[in-house]
Amino acid sequence: MGSSINQLTMEFPSKAVNIGFARTAVAMFAAQLDFTLDELDEIKIAVSEAVSNSVIHGYKGTEGMITIICAVGEGALEVQIKDEGVGIDDIEKAFEPAFTTAPKERMGLGLVFVKEYMDELIIDSVSGRGTSLIMKKSPCHNKVEV
Ligand SMILES: Nc1ncnc2c1ncn2[C@@H]1O[C@H](COP(=O)(O)OP(=O)(O)OP(=O)(O)O)[C@@H](O)[C@H]1O
Ligand SMILES: [Mg+2]
Repeated sequence: MGSSINQLTMEFPSKAVNIGFARTAVAMFAAQLDFTLDELDEIKIAVSEAVSNSVIHGYKGTEGMITIICAVGEGALEVQIKDEGVGIDDIEKAFEPAFTTAPKERMGLGLVFVKEYMDELIIDSVSGRGTSLIMKKSPCHNKVEV
């Protein structure tokens, strides 16, 4: 985000306890824009799904670092969440509802929610190198319906 007016960078180990911290921290940062409470809840869900994926799939129970970079500018929020874990072999498949590489208790819906709740999602993943999700969202009333 070129003309960002505010920015926050966080880095933390892939411990499950940090998922709740990350979702709340990003929502509090996002609150400087005019998001409704429902929209802030959607941001929280998207962030916790992305961070959970880095913890569960990216690092598979081993410990690695997760980085979150948030920026606001021009009435939009941009959040990048990245890990240096195993990466995703087939990104298209990862977005299919109910597709999961984890044992059966996972629903395979996390990325579907992220896509649904954010305005834009750019995913970049290299097998063996890691995964980056960049998600963007603007408060709904800023959007012009045509
Ligand atoms: N950060 C990541 N690193 C490696 N693989 C990932 C990552 N994020 C997603 N994936 C892959 O994409 C698949 C789909 O992810 P998604 O979040 O949609 O479902 P899930 O995590 O398997 O289940 P749920 O999110 O419903 O608990 C995962 O099963 C995993 O194979
Ligand atoms: Mg998931």
